[in-house]
Amino acid sequence: VLRVGFLGAGLIATYHSKMVRSSGVDVVRAGVFDPDVERAEAFARASGHVAARSVEEVLDGSDVVYVCTWTSEHLPLVAAAAATGKHVFVEKPLATTLADAEALCAVLAASGTTNQVGLVLRHSPAYRAARALIEDDPAGRVMSVVFRDDQFIPIQGHYGSTWRGDIRRAGAGTFLEHSIHDVDMLQFLAGPVDHVGANEAFFHELPGIEDVMAATVRFRNGAVGTMTSIWHDILDRPSQRSVEVFCERRMVTIGGHDWWGPVCWQDTDGATGRLGADELRERFGDLNPDRDFLLAAMEGRASTPDVTVALDAHRVTDAVYRSAKADGMPQSVVRS
Ligand SMILES: NC(=O)c1ccc[n+]([C@@H]2O[C@H](COP(=O)([O-])OP(=O)(O)OC[C@H]3O[C@@H](n4cnc5c(N)ncnc54)[C@H](O)[C@@H]3O)[C@@H](O)[C@H]2O)c1
Repeated sequence: VLRVGFLGAGLIATYHSKMVRSSGVDVVRAGVFDPDVERAEAFARASGHVAARSVEEVLDGSDVVYVCTWTSEHLPLVAAAAATGKHVFVEKPLATTLADAEALCAVLAASGTTNQVGLVLRHSPAYRAARALIEDDPAGRVMSVVFRDDQFIPIQGHYGSTWRGDIRRAGAGTFLEHSIHDVDMLQFLAGPVDHVGANEAFFHELPGIEDVMAATVRFRNGAVGTMTSIWHDILDRPSQRSVEVFCERRMVTIGGHDWWGPVCWQDTDGATGRLGADELRERFGDLNPDRDFLLAAMEGRASTPDVTVALDAHRVTDAVYRSAKADGMPQSVVRS
């Protein structure tokens, strides 16, 4: 039976703790450490974990560690966990810089343990169904993707976090912190992005924390697309994504809910279709990424998406920021 520890006891740690519970996998609830002692204790009370006094105490008593801290802490904590042979679930973004994301991947590769990253949309029935529709032969080639992601700036509301407004802890604004999911989904739906151009804006005047990024992307397969990411102050609009994929003979949209769509399409012969929550549930069942991770760790095999998937999204994200800093000058995605 795996002993599961947590580093960080905030919003996403709570989400994972609930997913572990609903996974049905039998685990021992081991230590949880957060420098915010009240948070760690509240988390421990709610989840059955034990509030620990240090990172080391959590590592000593765990086989699997969830790294759920603000982004700047991911690299040192993953390195400490990897050095002691733990299986690691780390949240996205991997790190505040591409160099640190690469270093994080290197320590996990060297440790040889199981790892998974919180790019949760890889498990979304809506995105999986959309990809199948796009890859379906009659659709033809992908021509363009129009992707928009907006949410209220998450230094308020149910996030209750200030670190997302601090460049040292978050690394950057909406594009790194939130839209790394979207970059990953762009590539999941339409293949690798090789070239980008981008512009950014700072309406909230938080140093280094852009609240708008508008990027154009060129996919390796010849398709071109746009990706706009916005942090506004419309508190009734938490995370909202709108995705339109234009193929030669089919248009596919994902709207509404990230997980349950609906996914709609329209074909060249006038046929249309719609997959709502019920159909998506029927087709994909009860997907639980935390269950996949825990089972993979128990069996000592690789899990997915692992940190290398996130690293590729970081490479695209890095090119987007390079372009924005160069007033929109096109940049290539560097894959070494
Ligand atoms: N996959 C997703 O959809 C998703 C959603 C939300 C957040 N996230 C990511 O998860 C991470 C955490 O976000 P959150 O919303 O839970 O933030 P949060 O502010 O709710 O929680 C972060 C916690 O980390 C703690 N912490 C800081 N340094 C620490 C350390 N050295 N050791 C232990 N704990 C430490 C803080 O005290 C805080 O309680 C971020 O990287 C964020 O980008 C991912």
